[in-house]
Formats: sequence, structure tokens, C-alpha cells
Amino acid sequence: MTDLLDRLRNAVPVWSAGMGGGLAGPQLAAAVSEAGGFGVLGVGGGLPRAAVLELVSATRALTSRAFGANVILPMSDGEDIAACFDARVDVLVLFWGDPQPYVADAHRRGMFVVAQCGGPEDAVAAADAGVDAVMVQGTEAGGHVKALAPLAETVPAAVRALGRRVPVIAAGGLATGADVATALGYGARAASLGTRFLASTEAAAVDAYKARVVAARAADTVFTDLFDIGWPRANHRVLRNTTYTAWEAAGRPAPGARPGEGEEIGTIPAGAERVPLPRYAVMPPMSGFEGDLEAAALYAGESVERIDAVVPAAELVTRLLDELRAAS
Ligand SMILES: Cc1cc2nc3c(=O)[nH]c(=O)nc-3n(C[C@H](O)[C@H](O)[C@H](O)COP(=O)(O)O)c2cc1C
Repeated sequence: MTDLLDRLRNAVPVWSAGMGGGLAGPQLAAAVSEAGGFGVLGVGGGLPRAAVLELVSATRALTSRAFGANVILPMSDGEDIAACFDARVDVLVLFWGDPQPYVADAHRRGMFVVAQCGGPEDAVAAADAGVDAVMVQGTEAGGHVKALAPLAETVPAAVRALGRRVPVIAAGGLATGADVATALGYGARAASLGTRFLASTEAAAVDAYKARVVAARAADTVFTDLFDIGWPRANHRVLRNTTYTAWEAAGRPAPGARPGEGEEIGTIPAGAERVPLPRYAVMPPMSGFEGDLEAAALYAGESVERIDAVVPAAELVTRLLDELRAAS
């Protein structure tokens, strides 16, 4: 049976993660798809319809190849997903919630749905809901992390639980072609890389954030739920920074009693405006962020260990394929 990954016919079994807050914008998604991988726009959640339509048309202006758009369900008011439907984005990638309400509408429009999941139970539920593929995370992942076990456990368990119902895309801690080969060895059919593509020329993050990713080791990342303003009670992996260490030194107090709560650590662009970014906010330092970088949520996976330079996304995709061939 032909499945989603067969239909997309990507030359390289690598997806770039739809990193929200504008980090994975049209330049990144288009560059990855153009180079033979599968690029995903980071819509995030709560963007107005017109802004999403603009992101999609800007991407289409840069590539005629298929690409995806990622929406974070707990942050969405539905307008962003409606815009993805209007624009008939090839693949809607949903995170952290039930994909079922969107599957029939997507399929009716000739679109595909992928759900990013934390493990075998989520993956089976998503397959039951009718998604076309599941992305299964491990706890090594950067950004928000649904998984509670490493990739070496979650992916093989999901593959076993799913049988051949839908393909599995592995996400978490993967930075090289050898890493991708390892994930394929777990039974995944493709890999989704976030942090590796964050350290690309096209990612729309401030340069100092990319430099932090390049300099960091896996041990510099922490698994926490600290950066919760805008999305409470959700685990994520970030680089240890001044906000984290001050909270740790204060004895890890609960929200409401944390050091510097209510302080403004910088501003971020929002359309034509600038809005203040409070300490503990969920938004990352995307391009246009001004303020104290070391206080902001610096999402990054354990994959930082094997990231040593900021490079153009197309070069990365080619390199990943070469390394994958060498490792297979
Ligand atoms: C900076 C950053 C932002 C992210 N934003 C999103 C997002 O908006 N939606 C989503 O589904 N996943 C998001 N993720 C998680 C990725 O989808 C993926 O699970 C993760 O990047 C895999 O681990 P890696 O970073 O080690 O490659 C983000 C990851 C990073 C690093």
C-alpha cells in the first residue's frame, strides 16, 4: 500500500521541524523541500488567518515542492488551522492534542495529517483517528516534549504497536546522517530534526541564539516545564540559562513565587507592533527579538552535542544524505 512517505517521494528521509514563534519560516521550509527533504513551517498557535496565509504563499513563492505546516493545538484558536485548510497546505502537522477533528476536513481537501506523539499509546490513538503518519519523539528532543522515554524506547515501541498501519517519523536528539541511520534502524521511515535546522542560515532566530546552540553540549540542556507563560504544564528541553539557574538557586519554587516573575526580559515583533516578553514566557528569541537573550526560552535538544556550525539548510540536507549513505 502506498503511504504518505511513498507519495511525498522525498529524496532524503529528513523533515525539518515546524518550529514555532516564527523560527521555521518560509526560507527554511522552502530550502529543505528544495534540497530534497521535507520542510515544515512553524505556525505555532494563535496566528491570525491572514498571517498564516502569508507564510504559506511566501513559501510557495520559494518552492514548487510540497511542504508542511505545524500547529500546536493547545495554543491554537482554530483560525490558524482554518488558514492551512484554505491554503491546502500539503501536510498539516499537529502537536499536543487530538488530531481527530481535523482529519476528515484535511483529507477532503487532498491534504495529509501528521501527529507528533510522545510514545506508542499516542501513536496508536493518532492512527485510530486516521492520521497519515506519526512523528514519535524521544526525551532528547528540543522544544516541547511529549515523550517521557528516550527515542531508542519510544520509536521501536510505536513501530511495534502500529504494525504497518502508518509510517513513523522519529524526532529527538538527531543531528547527523549517522543519527538518522540509527533512527531508521529503530523502524522509523524518516527523521524530523529541529535543533539541527535551528542552527541553519535560514532559521529565523537571532544569531546569538544560534551561536549558543553551536557552542552547547547535551549536558547544557535541561528537561523542565519552567517556561510556561503562554503554554502551562508542558515539558520542554531548553539550554540552561540565567532564568533557569536563578530559579534553581531559589529552590525551584512553584509558579507565582519564582524569581523575577512579572519582569520584562525583552520585546518581540508581532506584526507591525512590538510586544513585551515576560520572564518565563514560552516564546523563543526569534529574529527581531531585543533584550536579554540569556533570560529567554532557548529551546534545544541533546542533538546540540553534534552541531558545530551554522550552515545553509540545503547544505545540511545534502550532508545528512551523504552521512546516511555512509552509515547504512
Ligand atoms: C526551537 C524549537 C522549536 C520547536 N517548536 C515546535 C513547534 O512549534 N511545534 C512542534 O510540533 N514541535 C516543535 N519543536 C519540537 C520538534 O518538533 C522536534 O520534536 C524536536 O526538535 C526534535 O528534537 P531535536 O531538536 O533534537 O531535533 C521545536 C523544537 C525546537 C528545537
